[in-house]
Amino acid sequence: MKISVVGTGYVGLVTGVTLSDIGHTVTCIDIDNEKIQKMKKGISPIYEPGLDELMSKNIKNKRLYFTNDSSEGFREQEVIYIAVGTPEADNGSADLEFIEKVAIDIAKNLKKDAIVVTKSTVPVGTNEKIQELINLNKDSAIKVEVVSNPEFLKEGSAINDSFNGERIVVGSNSIRAAKVIEKINEPFNIPVFKTDIRSAEMIKYASNAFLATKISYINEVANICSRVGANVEDVSNGMGLDSRIGSEFLNAGIGYGGSCFPKDTKALIHLAGLHNNNFDLLREVVKVNNNQQSIIVDKLIDRLSSINGKKIAVLGLSFKPNTDDMRDAPSLKVIETLLKYNANVIAYDPIAINNAKKVLKHKVLFTESIEEAIDKSDATLILTEWNEVKNIDLKLFSKMNYPLVIDGRNCFDLEKMRYENIEYHSIGRPPIM
Ligand code: UGA
Repeated sequence: MKISVVGTGYVGLVTGVTLSDIGHTVTCIDIDNEKIQKMKKGISPIYEPGLDELMSKNIKNKRLYFTNDSSEGFREQEVIYIAVGTPEADNGSADLEFIEKVAIDIAKNLKKDAIVVTKSTVPVGTNEKIQELINLNKDSAIKVEVVSNPEFLKEGSAINDSFNGERIVVGSNSIRAAKVIEKINEPFNIPVFKTDIRSAEMIKYASNAFLATKISYINEVANICSRVGANVEDVSNGMGLDSRIGSEFLNAGIGYGGSCFPKDTKALIHLAGLHNNNFDLLREVVKVNNNQQSIIVDKLIDRLSSINGKKIAVLGLSFKPNTDDMRDAPSLKVIETLLKYNANVIAYDPIAINNAKKVLKHKVLFTESIEEAIDKSDATLILTEWNEVKNIDLKLFSKMNYPLVIDGRNCFDLEKMRYENIEYHSIGRPPIM
């Protein structure tokens, strides 16, 4: 099939590359020409394990193309995927400016019948709006059908998730269009769940909001565990054995971040509000998440009395491991508070330093190794559970002024920390003093 994908962010680029890998001829379109020139050479603009290799392979096999010329990208295609961003607007809703622009652009450039597939996360009703905009702007002889096909991949494991996903949701009011999209995805060998457009749009928001709820739930349980002397790791393992609960997304920590959960939870609350539903449960999920970062800073201040002028090492900056993405990273809020109390922050991250520098500028000193960051520090805070951090030789902590480790991601075994005489505070687990 001849496919084009508009927008080369995480979702668009991974969609384009994986669809080309299963045999389709894919053109990825983006307005950013600098990015396009890089991608033509097989260089991915984002850090995502396995993506560069897959890009180069499919460019070489002449199945993957990049262009910033939308007329070229839309003219001859049978299927066009929309994967542009839907950022958070000031009122918490999803901003549909890019989606609407692309819909009009597609309509104006199409020269034959096509199916338009929305991958971007969009509020219920948006695909119908896209259909209307296209109908208003296209040549009346051309037929366009719209399909909602939300994306469920996770950053950091996007390639693996694309090939081994658990479901592909296809929402359409056209049986024919839904069948075409099912056929396109056949080589992935992933179950396809077909439904109407509005339900497909809702599945995406309800899924992300549910996962966010699981995280805030276990974080609240962790906060109670700290008070009653239980261990949240054992609690979540014990809960997860019940298949009705499931063991995933029950890792307590300093809260969820990234480009999806924070924005999608707020967008769903906004959507509910438009229909006179306050969605109190989800509001609490967001509130719990917003408070979760303060736990480790409070612990730090409690232990050191004052952090004014103290050297605080921060390990891990990205919103989760295996990505350089700093969008809504919990580390930003933690560091902001440390700086407010005049701490000297020395930070290390294996991949995200360049992106972190753009946000944190010169307010933080960045190092090239864990060792350098923690050397002579008064405390170490762990904010992202990178393997490099989890596998660190615990003896390194003896290089600190005093081995005080506050871990926002429960990276280390309590007994091992006790054995090394490290004062260790983590989330929802007994402290080691
Ligand atoms: C999330 C969803 O998991 C994907 O299914 C979805 O496609 C994607 O949003 C999206 O809408 O595009 P992503 O944001 O890439 O994916 O990352 P997650 O692995 O879901 O992690 C989100 C945040 O939750 C991270 O900050 C992570 O540290 C945190 N988290 C996750 C926890 O604190 N505890 C957990 O048990 C799991």
